[in-house]
Amino acid sequence: MNILGISSWFHDSSAALLLDGELVAYAEEERFNREKHTNAYPLHSTDWVLASNKMTLDDMDEVVFYVNPAMYLWTGLKAVLSHLPYSLSLARSNAATMPPMERIWRLSRLKSILCRNHKAKGKFKLVFLDHYRTHQASAFFASEFDDAAILTMDFAVDGTTEVIAHGHGLHIDDKMKHRLPHGFAIIYAAITHVLGFKWYDEYKVMGMAAFGVSRYLEQIRQLYHYDEMTGRLELDLNYFQFQHAGRASLFSDKMANLFGPPRNPNDAITQREYDLAASLQAAVNQYGLAMASLAKKLTGSPNLCLAGGVAQNCLMNQTICESGIFTRVFIQPLAGDVGGSLGGALYQYHAVHGKPRKYVMRHLYLGPDYATTIAGCERQFGLKEHPSDCWQAEVAQAIAGGAVVGYFGGRMEAGPRALGARSILADARRRDMKDILNSRVKHREHFRPFAPSVLAEEVDTVFEPLPACDSLDYMITTMSVRPEWKEKVPAITHHDGTARVQAVRREYAPDFHSIISHYHALTGVPLVINTSFNDNEPIVCTPEDAVRCFQRTKIDLLVLGSRLYYRDENTHALEVKSDKSPASERMNYR
Ligand SMILES: [Fe+2]
Repeated sequence: MNILGISSWFHDSSAALLLDGELVAYAEEERFNREKHTNAYPLHSTDWVLASNKMTLDDMDEVVFYVNPAMYLWTGLKAVLSHLPYSLSLARSNAATMPPMERIWRLSRLKSILCRNHKAKGKFKLVFLDHYRTHQASAFFASEFDDAAILTMDFAVDGTTEVIAHGHGLHIDDKMKHRLPHGFAIIYAAITHVLGFKWYDEYKVMGMAAFGVSRYLEQIRQLYHYDEMTGRLELDLNYFQFQHAGRASLFSDKMANLFGPPRNPNDAITQREYDLAASLQAAVNQYGLAMASLAKKLTGSPNLCLAGGVAQNCLMNQTICESGIFTRVFIQPLAGDVGGSLGGALYQYHAVHGKPRKYVMRHLYLGPDYATTIAGCERQFGLKEHPSDCWQAEVAQAIAGGAVVGYFGGRMEAGPRALGARSILADARRRDMKDILNSRVKHREHFRPFAPSVLAEEVDTVFEPLPACDSLDYMITTMSVRPEWKEKVPAITHHDGTARVQAVRREYAPDFHSIISHYHALTGVPLVINTSFNDNEPIVCTPEDAVRCFQRTKIDLLVLGSRLYYRDENTHALEVKSDKSPASERMNYR
């Protein structure tokens, strides 16, 4: 049975291909169209997942969409009717990237849009799923567990925000639900906006938390009431106005009075903002723990699966893993809506069709590799390759010598984190490396930490063990750096002593593992800084994207596959600026 999962027209559009229960290809549309968090129809990603497996849309038995339009419409109508006359603006609101009625119109025509875009006759069945189902399935059916509690927490697009469920075999049984306008993601998003940030900036607030103290925790608790016995959550809606004003305006004057005036995005960040971020982190840690405890009580399972936007909070995930509530915890690394296409396909295959489970998520190298186009790219840009007897050893030597390395190799990784296929690598021993990376390539806020990629077999050498966590390979949880290592790897040790870890395994990333192994042999340190290969743009997709980033920034060494290009040996190539061609012309299928 062949199932294509897609997401579109909200944000983070993507496509996933499930062939007889195996996830064979996945890609986010933003990598192709170069628009961060794009809501565009996933034209290129769908074309790629199909063509890379020599298939067409008519080879699919089903296409699954990650939102239920009827629920989306009903949720919107209920919000408008509940808050008249203030809510009339909701109907024409374009705050959530597209006016709702336009979205409904497109969804009603989705099958014909699919057929037109991919030249198909339309033999497949089109299925719409409740959004939370796709989050649940993305975690449970990708885990190793036959039995698990499933906790999803989200700012849901079609109404259901938080669900505790029991996954067993091919079944997912819901035990408790929260629906809009109630959900912790709404609190998190509203305070993110008070702090002067915008949608998708929640991870920045998480990074800020280390620099503050949680002196606003009591005020945050005024925003909601949570009953730990029943799990009932109720926001005090006097502090919010998204329910009648839409997603452009989340909080009311009452919340502004509670925390003080919202920060203008152009203003400097003061201690008030750091303290508010720290308080929010403390609150989400407590809330996550309470929900995990309730999930344990309602299911009795020793295992937990986590997904939904809130599950991207690495510090909350660490707190839950450390709590001992569950023996094992799998956090879906595509916890946000990027996982909707994958989860939709998995839900249909297992829960709807009752097909046996065989896929377990072991890695995220699911995208295109472009290996055959690297030589052409070298010619196109006039790059001069540097010969090397052992390129992995030379890359390690360069990192140890203080170079900033842009590494492009193998199939592109899925999700928001670079995991060694499209990564910038640097020396974690240097205290000044964070500033060097920011000034030369990344241009990020100073409070955001850089993450480490560590040899899987050495994780517990550097970090306090987190044995409950099944998701150490994805930078989806923090770990605490051992006291004796903090001074050895200052560039990846955050202000609170944590780091967002990726464990690198030889079987899934042999070249990346080899680079770190050589670096380990040279320095005695089994990890490097790994940050995404980009500069305020989506992570690079093609070799051409990588070269353009190399040209624009001050990366010292570019690695394409096994070919090395030093900046100082490529002065001419750096002066030649290639014009940007449309993404469709740059496509090269595996
Ligand atoms: Fe979601």
